[in-house]
Amino acid sequence: MSTFGTLFRVTTYGESHCASVGAIIDGCPPGLKLSAQDVQTQLSRRRPGQSNLTTPRDEKDLVHLQSGIEHGVTLGTPIGLLVKNEDQRPHDYSETDLYPRPSHADYTYLQKYGIKASSGGGRSSARETIGRVAAGAIAEKYLKEAHGIEIVAFVSSVGKIRLPSSNVPPSAAANEDEDDDEIDDALSPEFRTLLATLTREEVDRFPTRCPHLETSERMTKRIIRAKEAKDSIGGTVTCVIRNVPAGLGEPVFDKFEAKLGHAMLSIPATKAFEIGSGFHGTEVPGSKHNDRFVRREDGNLGTTTNWSGGVQGGITNGEDIYFRIGFKSPATISQSQDTAQYDGTPGTLVARGRHDPCVVPRAVPIVEAMAALVVMDELLIQNARKSTASLLPPVTTLPPTMILPARE
Ligand SMILES: Cc1cc2nc3c(=O)[nH]c(=O)nc-3n(C[C@H](O)[C@H](O)[C@H](O)COP(=O)(O)O)c2cc1C
Repeated sequence: MSTFGTLFRVTTYGESHCASVGAIIDGCPPGLKLSAQDVQTQLSRRRPGQSNLTTPRDEKDLVHLQSGIEHGVTLGTPIGLLVKNEDQRPHDYSETDLYPRPSHADYTYLQKYGIKASSGGGRSSARETIGRVAAGAIAEKYLKEAHGIEIVAFVSSVGKIRLPSSNVPPSAAANEDEDDDEIDDALSPEFRTLLATLTREEVDRFPTRCPHLETSERMTKRIIRAKEAKDSIGGTVTCVIRNVPAGLGEPVFDKFEAKLGHAMLSIPATKAFEIGSGFHGTEVPGSKHNDRFVRREDGNLGTTTNWSGGVQGGITNGEDIYFRIGFKSPATISQSQDTAQYDGTPGTLVARGRHDPCVVPRAVPIVEAMAALVVMDELLIQNARKSTASLLPPVTTLPPTMILPARE
């Protein structure tokens, strides 16, 4: 459905070529200082037409705050956000009246609803993600102010070009005898430093949003090559969330990583999600994969490594949360494709319209937004649990080993 979240509930609306797209956000805490610019910054990072690596559809994506805010402060009531669709060219889609685009959502939407939007991807278009990005920016503002939580995503691969030292694993060892002892840590020191310190400003210095000059230049060439060949190419986005308190996540069905996976795999064009060591962790023995505990400066336990990606048992452990998402090569390409029409007649589709040759540079703020929505919702849920429990008289009858020790 079109609503995400339990206590911080976001409903998005809009299709690729309707009058406007946007969101209603219910459950935002009252008293948060919020301006249109707080939301616009992330929308402008998502908007099309940012560089020659993205679709040339020219949308300014200016946000209009409709409700829930007065004098720059949230009221606690539903916040309405609206962005107009301006640069529409529905005639670009006349071929797709006859043909469902291979690997797009035209065929499945028609099967599901028995009716479909007259042009473009309708609801499956990335225009829908505007509502998410706007809502995520509001969640982020709260998370930053209340908890110092930071969320930074970046492009970690395009096609086969990978950010060096990243969590994109090398190819599997060819010889199974070699597999166990090769890797001492899931994350190289360089990558751990990157996760700990990278800022959005640094990410945005590169048109690809891959924060490594030489790799970014190679990725740029790869994307341009796809574009010139009227083709497309996929990639991965890695995201880190810092300063999340321990204790968020709702086992068993709403484990924190299950919520993250749900959020990320709801983004258009996603095909894969992994957290922490991910698939690579399957190749490493437990003696190396275990994150050993150590006392942190604040008296809580931390871990010396972070193969877990900051989540254990579906609950955050206070370490950085990092994960990676795989985005497929976009479906709409201008190359002619032998395929079939809706009625089954074989034919050749030559799609017109304006398309992203690679979605990952623009997917970065969408990933950050969905991460913010998950953390925000889980934080509100955990705060509700804690404050409800705190109204009960202290438990004095249980053995001390059953209770979290009080910290000074
Ligand atoms: C930022 C972004 C931009 C996208 N741009 C395009 C595009 O230009 N052309 C296209 O075919 N798909 C594009 N997509 C992907 C489609 O929205 C999506 O692949 C399609 O609806 C099919 O759904 P699925 O891939 O999730 O199964 C984009 C996705 C994102 C996240």
